[in-house]
Amino acid sequence: MTEKSQSAEPQGVQVRRLFKNYESAGAAVSILRELELEIQPGEAVCITGPSGSGKSTLLYLISSLDRPDAGEVHLLGTDILALSEKEQTQFRNRHIGFVFQDHDLLPQLSVVENVLLPAIAGEGVTTETEQLAEKLLTRVGLQDRLKSLPAQLSGGERQRVAVCRALINKPELILADEPTGNLDPATAKVIGDLLLELSREQNTMLLCVTHSVELADRFPRHLVLEDGKLIAASNALQTTAKS
Ligand SMILES: Nc1ncnc2c1ncn2[C@@H]1O[C@H](COP(=O)(O)OP(=O)(O)OP(=O)(O)O)[C@@H](O)[C@H]1O
Ligand SMILES: [Mg+2]
Repeated sequence: MTEKSQSAEPQGVQVRRLFKNYESAGAAVSILRELELEIQPGEAVCITGPSGSGKSTLLYLISSLDRPDAGEVHLLGTDILALSEKEQTQFRNRHIGFVFQDHDLLPQLSVVENVLLPAIAGEGVTTETEQLAEKLLTRVGLQDRLKSLPAQLSGGERQRVAVCRALINKPELILADEPTGNLDPATAKVIGDLLLELSREQNTMLLCVTHSVELADRFPRHLVLEDGKLIAASNALQTTAKS
C-alpha cells in the first residue's frame, strides 16, 4: 500500500474558473461557467441542481475523464490537466473511487471479484486487499454473498457492492453520481449512511451528486449547481424564495 503523499501542496480539491461547453446543433452551449470549488481533506460535500445543469459533467472533469475548455483542477496537490492520459488513469485508479447510479458491475465476476477490480487494475491483489474486500462487504451486510454474481443481487445490494469497490484502493476522494437513484427510501438511506460513515472512518473526501433532498440534508456542506456555478444551498433557497 502506498503512503499518502506528504507534499506541502494543498491536499484537497481545488477547482478554479472552470468552463465547459458542449456542441449542440452546431452551436456551443455553455454548461459550466467560471465554476469554483474547494474541498478540504476529509470533507463531505453534496451537490444538487436541476437535471441538465452539469453535475455529472463536473464529476467527469474533476476525475479527468473529460477535459474542460478552460480552468484548473488540482487534486491532492496535483495539476491533473498537466498529466498524460496514462498518468491520469493511474492517478484515478490510485486516488479516486467512483460510485455511479448504474453501478456498472461486471456481470461475469462475483461480488468479491468486482470489489477487487480496482486493485487488480492497480497494484495487484494482496492478502491485505482481499481481507479489506471481505471486511468492507461484511460492513455492508454482504458477507454471505461474496461468491454471488451481480444478477443474483437486488439493486440495493449491487449498489452496496459498488460502494465497497469505490473504497478498495483507500482513495482520498470518492465521487458519487446519484448513488441512491432508483432505490427505495429505506435502501437509499442505507447507501447514504454507508458513504458518509465509511468516508468519515477512512478520512476520505466525498463529493456526492444527488436529486434526493433527504440525502443532501445529511451532508455537512450542500451546494447547488445553478447557471454554471456552485452556490451554497442556503443562498439558492433564498434565490428561489425571491423569484
Ligand atoms: N457528450 C456530450 N455532448 C453534448 N452535450 C452533452 C454531453 N454530455 C452532457 N451534455 C449536455 O450537458 C448538459 C449537462 O449534462 P449533465 O449530464 O452534466 O447534467 P446533470 O446535471 O448531471 O443532469 P441529471 O441531473 O439529469 O443527471 C446537458 O444539457 C447535456 O445534454
Ligand atoms: Mg447527471
